[in-house]
Amino acid sequence: MTITRRQFLQTAALTTGGLLLPGVARSDEGGWTRLRAAPAAAMLLDGKPDDPMTAVWAYEGTVPGLPLRFRRGERARIRLQNGLEQPTSIHWHGLRVPNAMDGVAGLTQAAVEPGETFDYEFVVPDSGTYWYHSHNRSWEQVARGLYGTLVVEEENPPAVDHDLTLAIDDWRIADDGQIHEDSFGSMMDLSHAGRMGNWLTVNGKSLAKFNVSAGDRLRLRLLNAANARIFDLDLSPAESTLIALDGQPVTPRRLDGPLKLAPGQRADLIIDLTGEPGSRLVLNAVSGGDPVEAAVFEYDQTEGRDRIAGRPEGALEAPQRPPLDHANMVEQGLLMEGGAMGRMESGRFQGQEMTPRELMSFGKIWTFNGVAGDMSDMHDPLLRVERGRSVAIDMFNDTRFPHAMHLHGHHFQVLEIDREPARHQDWMDTVLMFPGERLKIGFVADNPGKWLFHCHMLEHHAAGMGTWLEVGT
Ligand code: C2O
Ligand code: CU
Repeated sequence: MTITRRQFLQTAALTTGGLLLPGVARSDEGGWTRLRAAPAAAMLLDGKPDDPMTAVWAYEGTVPGLPLRFRRGERARIRLQNGLEQPTSIHWHGLRVPNAMDGVAGLTQAAVEPGETFDYEFVVPDSGTYWYHSHNRSWEQVARGLYGTLVVEEENPPAVDHDLTLAIDDWRIADDGQIHEDSFGSMMDLSHAGRMGNWLTVNGKSLAKFNVSAGDRLRLRLLNAANARIFDLDLSPAESTLIALDGQPVTPRRLDGPLKLAPGQRADLIIDLTGEPGSRLVLNAVSGGDPVEAAVFEYDQTEGRDRIAGRPEGALEAPQRPPLDHANMVEQGLLMEGGAMGRMESGRFQGQEMTPRELMSFGKIWTFNGVAGDMSDMHDPLLRVERGRSVAIDMFNDTRFPHAMHLHGHHFQVLEIDREPARHQDWMDTVLMFPGERLKIGFVADNPGKWLFHCHMLEHHAAGMGTWLEVGT
């Protein structure tokens, strides 16, 4: 399915005000920030007179949900209220929280029943760009809108004129303007590239618009909130400097082409606006078809390009993180198999060895080390490891599809790609792997508990691409 090209919103009335994700999280109930998950309606379409609102599920009534903003070291107190008809939970993607607060229904907590509440409380450990989302039936709940952005401010952030968070998502919208429901959980999506949408939004709008001036410096915090779609994000002719991936600082580097962002990933960019007053800069999203305009930065008439000269790159402070002990790594292999056109012969599910056809009757079609994962049956972990040990996981993608591997509770470093040392040994929490690729990641297992490790293409996770690690106390 390709994404539809849309008409631009012609109205100039839209200002940045409504699109800049505002302020620090508000507390409403005695120091607790409420996140009520409930049905809502959102104008995901263009907003033309005939365009209907789309029925969504949302946190605090908006898609994305209430934007959360913290300072590092601050205590987050968040009360999930379940106003849905399904059980739910919230995961703080990329934040190294205590295990009991990680929000994985079936592993770190029981799912929160309709009408019930759950209190999440943790000290915010790292600065950077993160997000939160449902972690129960996430293939449906995230696709219906249950996600939001979470920014943790640096003590000394790079000086910018605009700090903008852009949550990019694709939706599968039927002719009536509503979410296509019949295809939730379809074996076609589970066994191929996942649920691809046909409608693109940024911050819940079909085209996000921002007012800027020549000479402004932008910090863009980009999030891919799609279930399964990989985006190539193109801001040319502007020059973008990458300063962080998944919230973790990188040595600042100029991008030499579009930025590839897999589901769950974030990237922070610094962009100096060198265009003419009155011109526009477009963020195009490309994904196996024509580019789609995702966001547009409209310059006013102010001259100011001379403000750009000689500004530093905007480096971020290094986070506090123990170094890898390369001489004493616990090594673990992970073989990824299955999916359409794959060559998996059998897989284990609920303790039984099964053919792919039998697996499919249980909605499973992918395996890690021969086991189809399931959130209602947490089989043995991939690995049990003592706290503080350095771990290397050597992953091989023996399938015909890319996958976006996400580790909970830790950040990992990409060490090797196809047995060669990785050029940028970036730290991240979600890494994209292409078909036939081998990737070695390393991390220090310093956060005790049971941590999920799964493909963030949410249909792949549902259909077996999930396992977990246990870090001792
Ligand atoms: Cu973004 Cu297991 O989740
Ligand atoms: Cu996958």
